[in-house]
Amino acid sequence: MEKRYFLKNAPQYKLAEIISVVSHQLKTPLSSIKGYLEVLLSEDLGQLNKQQKEYLKDVLENTRQMIDLVRDLLDVTIIEVNRIEFKKSPTDLAKIIKKSMKEFSLLARAKNCDLSFETLNEFPLLNIDSIKIKQVIDNLIDNAISYNKRKGEVKVSLFKKGKKVVFCCKDTGIGISEGEKDKIFTKFYRSEEAIALATRGSGLGLFISKAIIEKSGGKIWFKSKKGKGSVFCFSLPIKS
Ligand SMILES: Nc1ncnc2c1ncn2[C@@H]1O[C@H](COP(=O)(O)OP(=O)(O)OP(=O)(O)O)[C@@H](O)[C@H]1O
Ligand SMILES: [Mg+2]
Repeated sequence: MEKRYFLKNAPQYKLAEIISVVSHQLKTPLSSIKGYLEVLLSEDLGQLNKQQKEYLKDVLENTRQMIDLVRDLLDVTIIEVNRIEFKKSPTDLAKIIKKSMKEFSLLARAKNCDLSFETLNEFPLLNIDSIKIKQVIDNLIDNAISYNKRKGEVKVSLFKKGKKVVFCCKDTGIGISEGEKDKIFTKFYRSEEAIALATRGSGLGLFISKAIIEKSGGKIWFKSKKGKGSVFCFSLPIKS
């Protein structure tokens, strides 16, 4: 009954609203599937054989990808209808960067990638939404590792420049050609080389990152040379 009501009234919904409702509805069942899979894989309910474990791990990885996609779709619709909200509090940015790097250490090891962090100054606390800014940092580090070559390097740095702090993430990866530079911050854009290297990914990360940084009063930019590597940076005002 409820479904028919939704369809009957569908034309009066805007596409962004439909995506937002659908992704919101998918969030709960997907989280529940993920929870049950994690319990099964912990083997608290009984031992699994090698093949069962392998299959369940695969299902879990795919479920995580769907959860990420649903989160990104929700973020995009929130940005498009201009309803992005920030919960600001005094935040130690260096601490957030270290947390993100720790979470990406496994992926870096799997790609044989050297991940390092350099910071020179003592930093004041920034009045920012730490969850949203970490989402940006996560995406930039994820990209730098995912679109890198084997035995590549990722150097993360944080420094002060006048009344701003600047975060940079430099990699020795595939780089970005002149022709694709305009598309990098647009929705759903993924280069063919990037798709070949990392099949998962929705091409929404940088679109969302740009909106988060700009709405936090900052700027985001990159420099890149095809085949040599890229550096993605953002700046945030110290006082906001
Ligand atoms: N460090 C990088 N080196 C080379 N290409 C990059 C880099 N970062 C981004 N790109 C290019 O920009 C595209 C868009 O990046 P973005 O982070 O928005 O999406 P994604 O990584 O493909 O997917 P996701 O939405 O999961 O983040 C990538 O697919 C890739 O083609
Ligand atoms: Mg990405």
